[in-house]
This record gives sequence, C-alpha cells and structure tokens, in this order.
Amino acid sequence: MTRLFTEPIAFQEWRRSQGVVGFVPTMGALHAGHEALLRRAKAENPTAIASIFVNPLQFGPHEDWERYPRSLGDDLDRCRRCGIDAVFAPLALPVMTQVQPAPHLVQTLCAPHRPGHFGGVATIVLKLWQLVQPQRAYFGQKDGQQVAILRHLVRDLSLPLALTICPTVRETDGLACSSRNAYLTPAQRAIAPQLYGALQRAVAEFAAGERAAAALCATARQAAPEVTWQYLECVHPLTLSPLTAVESGAMLAGAVFLGDTRLIDNVMLRARQPLVAIDGPAGAGKSTVARRVADRLGLRYFDSGATYRAIAWAALRAGLDLADPGSGEAVGAIAAGVNLDQQPAADLSTRVFVDGEEVTAAIRTPEISRWVSVVAAVPAVRAVLGAQQQAAGRSGGVVMEGRDIGTAIFPQAELKIYLTASVAERAQRRLRDLGETNLDLGAIEAAIRERDERDSTRAIAPLRRAPDAIQIDTDGLSIDRIVEIIVELYRSQTVDPSL
Ligand code: PAJ
Repeated sequence: MTRLFTEPIAFQEWRRSQGVVGFVPTMGALHAGHEALLRRAKAENPTAIASIFVNPLQFGPHEDWERYPRSLGDDLDRCRRCGIDAVFAPLALPVMTQVQPAPHLVQTLCAPHRPGHFGGVATIVLKLWQLVQPQRAYFGQKDGQQVAILRHLVRDLSLPLALTICPTVRETDGLACSSRNAYLTPAQRAIAPQLYGALQRAVAEFAAGERAAAALCATARQAAPEVTWQYLECVHPLTLSPLTAVESGAMLAGAVFLGDTRLIDNVMLRARQPLVAIDGPAGAGKSTVARRVADRLGLRYFDSGATYRAIAWAALRAGLDLADPGSGEAVGAIAAGVNLDQQPAADLSTRVFVDGEEVTAAIRTPEISRWVSVVAAVPAVRAVLGAQQQAAGRSGGVVMEGRDIGTAIFPQAELKIYLTASVAERAQRRLRDLGETNLDLGAIEAAIRERDERDSTRAIAPLRRAPDAIQIDTDGLSIDRIVEIIVELYRSQTVDPSL
C-alpha cells in the first residue's frame, strides 16, 4: 500500500513510526529515470518514501514553473508499482531561509545560466531531508551539478545520511529520460538524441587518446549541428572546476535548446577506475583494512609492504649482511633481478612469490620485520619496486597500501587515506597478531617507535601524510568501522565507475 500525505505534520507523525528510510525527492511527472531511483530505494531500505513537489524556489521568473507537467494520479500509480510506502506531496512548503551552495560549485555549467536555481534546490532538499529524516537519499547522475552540490551540502553540514547516485536512464535512442521531454514537438523529439550522441562522440575520442578539453568539446559540438548549445563544458567531476586537460577523469556536461525547451545531459570521461592509496605507520592496521576495503568495493588489492619484505627475504637468503651499510648496491641488484608476484587468496589474504617460490609466511617473521625498513631505504630498491607499483596501479581499480603511495607512487590517487594509531594501540595489536603473551609490550613499543623514526626520517620517500590525505585515527575503532568509513569516503569522494 502506498500512503499519500499532503500535510507535513501528519506525514512526520507517520514517519516516526518507521525505521530506516530510503528517500527519493522528485518534482513529479515521473518517468523511467525516476522509477530506477524508486525501485532502488525500495530494494535497499525497509521503508521507501518519495516526495513530489514542484519547487518554485528553483525556477527563475521566466522559467517553466507554471507549465511544468503535473500528473499526481499517474505518479501515485507508478510509486505503487515500485513498492513505495509513502508519497509526500505537499501543496506548499513555505521557506524564507535560503541555503547557499558552495560558491565554487555554482560558477560553471547550469548555474551561471540559472541564477538562484541551485540555492533553491539545496534549500528545498535540506528542508525535505529534515521532514523525512532518511538514512539514504537517491539522486540521478543526469543532474550532475545537482549531485555535486548535494554531496557537498551533506559533507559541509555533517548531515546524517548517505547519498546514492544512480546512472542516467535513457530512451532507446539515447535521449535521457526527463519530464521536460514532454514539451518537445515531434520534429524536436527527432533531433533531441543529438545531445547524447554528441557526448558519446567525445567519449569515443577520449577513448582514442584525446585529452584536451577544447578538442573534446569541439568534436561534440560538431556532432550535434541542429541543436542550439547553451553550454558544453569539461569539468572535474566533484569540484566542477573547468579542466583544460583530462587526467584521471572528468564530467562532460551540456545544455541545449530545442525551441524553448532546454535539455541537459552529461557523461563521465574516465581514464581509469579510482585508485585508493592507504598509507600510514607500521601496525596501524593498513593491510587488514585495505584488503577488506578492496573486497567491499570490488577493487584489486596491492600490498606494497609485502614487496619490500620479499626483497629483504631474498637478500637474506642470498647471504647478504644487511647490517653492513655497504650492502645497498647488492640489495638493489637483487631487487632488479628477482621476479615478484602477488595473488589474492580466497580468504582475502595475499600470497607472495619470489621467482615462483611462495614466501607468504616466510616474509612475516620478526627477522624480516627487523630488516624491511633497511631494505626499503635503499634508493635502487625503491626505484625498482616503485616502478612495479606504478605499473600495477596505472589502470586504477586498486587499493594500494604502503608508506608513500599517496605521496610518491601515486600523488594523483583519487582517494588518499592516512591510517594511524597511537604507539600503545599498535603495540597491543602487534601482540594480538603474534598470538603470544609472554612478549614484552615495552620492547614492542620501543621497536615501533624506532621503526617510525627510521621510516619518517629516511632520505627517500619518508613516511609522511600527503596534504590531501584524509587522516583516520584508529584508536578505539573496530576494523569493521574503519572499513565502513573508507567505503563511505570512496562513495562520496570518488566518482562511481558505474555512472
Ligand atoms: P526531478 O527532475 O523530478 O528529478 C528527481 C530525481 O530523479 C533527481 O535526482 C534526478 O536526477 C533524477 N532523474 C531525473 N531524470 C533521470 C534520468 N533520466 N535518469 C536517472 N535519474 C533521473 O531533480 C529534481 O527533480 C529536483 O531538483 C529535486 C531534487 C526534487 C528538488 O526539487
């Protein structure tokens, strides 16, 4: 049964009787694009709520608020078919206070052409969130700028809800579903797919290697000669700042006029899937966390620490005296000569091989722990292994863990985490991992301090936090919680490859 509420007070009273809610705000005239959001909200939450409200705050004085299609009966039918538990369709939502979106997000794309529009969106969405109190809210990537602004709103105001962004739903000829498609005459409808066709031409050119934004935009414009472009811009997908060249990714977004009807659309240009760099001191829980994050997000996991350990193992096996400061050259030669491999095991652990020989257990001994940072301080070793790490992560889709991933190996990583914990906490964890009780906690703490000192003072790639890394102090946090935080950051701060 789908309930219909038009009065905020009655609606809020009912809401209080519900638990976890997924919420889809709309302006009605529902179509297949909305339906995808409604179905997803229902599938992922015990209670799914939609709102229908043609928000006057987001329409300019000469825009289409009056003629915007209104079809409450059909909309309710659609909500019912999607299993929506309640529709909140207020007749009016008076609000005098205005929310100002982050200024840098309203300098590009639609915003300069629609002054006040995104303030109106942010204001009404915040009000609806207050009334509905959802745990999750669903939005479409079709309105890419709206998504970026709302992501920022949630983060800036620490709002207690998660956003889920759904891919754009299209008609079979590629035209993005939109309530405004109803305005098109048959002749306009016939040329409307040129907008998406143009964006697709740029995607193809990008795939062929073109990285200059101006060239990509020119290609797209040429591919849609019959529409009137209001704008076409290549921007950073999260900050919306204009790009001259596309490095890891961009949003290419445009608006066109067909007669009086204005249509928007966007596509993502992605050179690679996001790369997550997790750095931090020894014993902060990086490897367990990184493995689990990779598993949750369907990404590969790369253990860079294991590669240094494997070289330490190979050097000791070759009989090198690592205490000898002159051993660096020989260790470098070993790093250049051996063949390292790592493979995921079913239990999320990583199997490590040196020249085909499995060393998974052999590289975890206290002896290797003792020598690994000596090996890692040898410039030739870092050069060889750094290049291998870059090769492993170049195409993205990896969670890479280490000490200098976000600073030296992948300064362009899409998400950088710096995981840390107090020395006392790390010593406790090490003790637990070793499963022995008769070890001296003080000695372990001293060893950790010594290792921190060595790692952070060494000349090449010292351990330090990248300025743009997000630091997570893990004292008192469970592994589950840390994984959850990082997964949430990935979802809110990188662009989901499915979009
Ligand atoms: P409206 O245009 O009705 O869209 C409601 C939601 O449906 C938005 O999140 C929008 O991005 C999504 N949507 C629209 N067309 C889509 C498509 N073809 N594929 C996927 N999703 C699509 O956006 C608004 O209303 C308003 O600004 C609102 C957020 C309700 C605030 O008033």
